This record gives sequence, C-alpha cells and structure tokens, in this order.
Amino acid sequence: MEQTTITLHSGFPVGPVDPRIFGGFLEHMGRCVYEGVYDPECVHADADGLRTDVLGALDRLDMPVVRYPGGNFVSGYHWQDGVGPVDERPTLRELAWSSIETNHFGTDEFMGLCDRLGWTPMMAVNLGTGSPEEARNWVEYCNSPAGTKYADLRATNGNPEPYRVPLWCLGNEMDGPWQLGHGPAEDYANRALQAARMMKNVDRSIELVASGSSMVELDSYLEWDRVVLEYLGTAADYISLHRYVGNQNDDTADFLAVTNAIDAQIEAVDAMCRYVQAKQKNWRRTHLAFDEWNVWYKNMEMNGAGQVAPHLIEERYNLEDALVVAGFFNSFIRHADVVKIANIAQIVNVIAPIQTRGDDMLIQSIFHVFEQYSTRRAGISLRPSVDGPEYQSPSYGSVDVIDTSAILDTDQLHLFVTNRSLDQAAPVLATLADHTIESVVNAHIINADDPKAENTFEDQSVVAARPFDGASISGDGLVLQLPPLSTVATTVALT
Ligand code: AHR
Repeated sequence: MEQTTITLHSGFPVGPVDPRIFGGFLEHMGRCVYEGVYDPECVHADADGLRTDVLGALDRLDMPVVRYPGGNFVSGYHWQDGVGPVDERPTLRELAWSSIETNHFGTDEFMGLCDRLGWTPMMAVNLGTGSPEEARNWVEYCNSPAGTKYADLRATNGNPEPYRVPLWCLGNEMDGPWQLGHGPAEDYANRALQAARMMKNVDRSIELVASGSSMVELDSYLEWDRVVLEYLGTAADYISLHRYVGNQNDDTADFLAVTNAIDAQIEAVDAMCRYVQAKQKNWRRTHLAFDEWNVWYKNMEMNGAGQVAPHLIEERYNLEDALVVAGFFNSFIRHADVVKIANIAQIVNVIAPIQTRGDDMLIQSIFHVFEQYSTRRAGISLRPSVDGPEYQSPSYGSVDVIDTSAILDTDQLHLFVTNRSLDQAAPVLATLADHTIESVVNAHIINADDPKAENTFEDQSVVAARPFDGASISGDGLVLQLPPLSTVATTVALT
C-alpha cells in the first residue's frame, strides 16, 4: 500500500486533552453492579463485598470519572432506597430492565468504590419518576456538611465528611420514548431547570450535564438539544450525547469507517451549542459529555424477567470492535476542545471491557485499547494532517485507511494509528514539523488475522496489546509498518 504521511505541528493545537474522556459508567443493570464490581459471595471479594480481581483490572484502565447509577435505571430510582442499614433497604421491582433490585449497593457503597479507585463520581439524578426536590436532597446528602437533614442522614450512615461530588447529570436519555418520564423537550427542560436551580442552591460548585440527544436516528435529534439548551441557558455546563454502534451488515470495512459518523455527531451537537450560545449572547461555552458510548449490537437481551442480576447485554468483543473503540478515542482526542467528558458504557459485564463468570474474569479486546490510550492521555491534542490512501464506505462515505490522533506532552508525543485495511500492511510516516522525533520510548500493537478474533475465558491472549517492533526513526520522522487490521499506540521522545 502507498505510504500515509501524518503531519503534525505544535502550532496547530486542538486543545488540552481532558482526562475525563477516559471515564466509565456503572449502572444498576444486569450484572454490572451485582456479580460485577460487588459480589460478597465471590472468592475475590474483600470485606466490603467488592471483587478485588475486577477492581485490579479497572485500576489498569485508570478512569478519572465514573457515572452512576444509570442509565435508564436512574429514571425509576429513588436514592433513599439505597442508603442506610443494608438489611433495612427495600427489595424492589426495577422498572427499566424488569429486574429485581436489592439495593444492597447504593450511594455510600459507590462512594467507597470511587475512593478505592480514585474515581470522581458523576451522579445522574432521576428526572423520570423523581422530582427536582429529590435530586436536590441527594446533593445535600452527598455534598453538604453535617447539620441539616440529609447531610445528617449521611453522617448517621457512617460518613460524617461530605463526598463533594462535582458532576451531576440532569436525568438520562430524556429524549427517548423508552425512558420513564419521557415527554416533550420543553417539559424536560422545565424540570431540569428547576432541578438545576435547587441543586446549585445546595452547592454552587457543582457542574451539571443536561440530557441531550441520545440517538442520531430519532426525529428529535438536535432539535431536542436546541430546545433544552435555549431553556437552560447557562444553568447547564455540559450537554450529553450517546452513541452505540454495530456491524449489523457484517461489513468490517464499513464498520471501521464509523469514525466519520462519530466526528459528525460531535460536530453537529457542538454546532447546536454554539448556535444557542451566539443567539443568547452568552460568553460561556457549553461543552459535550459523551457519557455513553461503545459497540453494542450482538446481545440485545434487555429483559431481566424478575431476576436479581440477570445476564443482560453481555456483549463479547472481537478485534474489529476493538478497532472501532480506538476510533471513538481518536475522535474524542481530535475534538479535545469540545468533548470534555466521555464514559465507556459500561465497565463490567454489561457491554463492558471486563466480564465475570463465577470467580473467573475475562479481559476483552476493547480493554486493551482503552488501556493503551488511557495510559498515554496527558497533553495537548494536535490537529493531524493525513495524506494517504482512502476508501469508500457504503454508510459513511470516503475515509482514510489510516485513522489517527496525537497528543503532545512537553518533550514526548503520543501517537495512535489504526490501519483499517483488511488485507494490506500500511507504511506510515509521522512528523512533528517543528520538532525532531529522537527515539521510540514505547510502542504497542493490537491486531489479529481475523476481524472476528476474540478472547475467551479459556484463552485471553487472542486479542491483546503486545510490544510493537515495527516503529523506527528515519530522519526527523517516525516510520511505522502497520499490519492489516491493527492499531498501534506509541510514545516517542522529542527534541
Ligand atoms: O448502557 C445501556 C443503556 O443504554 C443505558 O441504560 C441507557 O442510557 C442506554 O440506552
């Protein structure tokens, strides 16, 4: 294949990469909480019932922020059911996934988990069946010093110090007809504004995420965002967007081109934010919280059939899914000025990089991509100029065979390169025009011969990150020889 050149210059920055784009999402859905992070029966459980094997794996992903407790679950969730003595908490019929919720894990347990793994909690409030006042009371429970009712309740429950939760989502996917409490955008916007005012009245420092368009396919796409943004004005700091993608047509090349659509979605929602900002003559920019994203199309089992911790949407991930996950990250990094938060959905068992089976744990292909990016995230995103072969995707138009993003970290450059060709190796030359690339500090590759290759509980080395020896320095540039269907993450030293 003809060589692709990637030209970078420190004078063309996109913006600092917000570490929160490497966030996660823990929902009370299926076996994400129960049998996922929390499983007192497991041999790996610690004194708090947390699975130390799962926590060890999550620790490797170094997520700065984790969203909780839903998802669709939150639109029927009353947070007070999940606090206080565990044996006094109600067991309930859960409304979003037709499951049974024991409430053995709730706010205080989640905060303990955040503390253990260094996560910043990102709480979603119930604006489906819940009230703005209930949301406000939750902020008091989490963030106020003892001395008033809900803060005292927290202290009584054994946690005298406030948790200081900085980020709150005003509901979840409220544009979706499937959502409990869904209605016209104006109704949601009104409720969200009341909640925002009451929540900020308790703690002025919190940042709020308005519930934006959850699916580009909905007729209300973007128009929902316009109404919500206009109504909320400066009350919301971020607007959410979600995206789940899949290879329904079993066309790998087309699937790998979905990055075009992710770029387009980010740019469209950002354009709506800027439109409203300009119209309202606000100086303040609303940024994007891409607070649910992943590959999801193979396992669509969403009926919990009255079970505790049912097996729901336990997607198995293969190589092509991993390459698409790399594409999501490339897109977020290329839009570092716009996307400030992103949460992979979800973190364990439910469309997740990690699965459990009894006491065993499976590290899926997408885990490795997440880890390679997350551990090279510090710095400023640079705008890559890519010149090389392209191909036509039936769904997404013309795409470069090479997908890339780059982060400048003082005297190092982190470069991410994916070869989307199914059968051809790709030579790549990357230069940072105003620097010399001195040496390769490290490089890892994720690849396999078959796009459908996946890890199993029995063999977890099928799709994994391996040291890459196809990176070398030539002149001022970095030369990479990428095998077909591969993604490489590398850090190089600069002078
Ligand atoms: O992540 C699974 C579900 O997908 C979430 O609960 C919901 O917000 C989305 O539709």
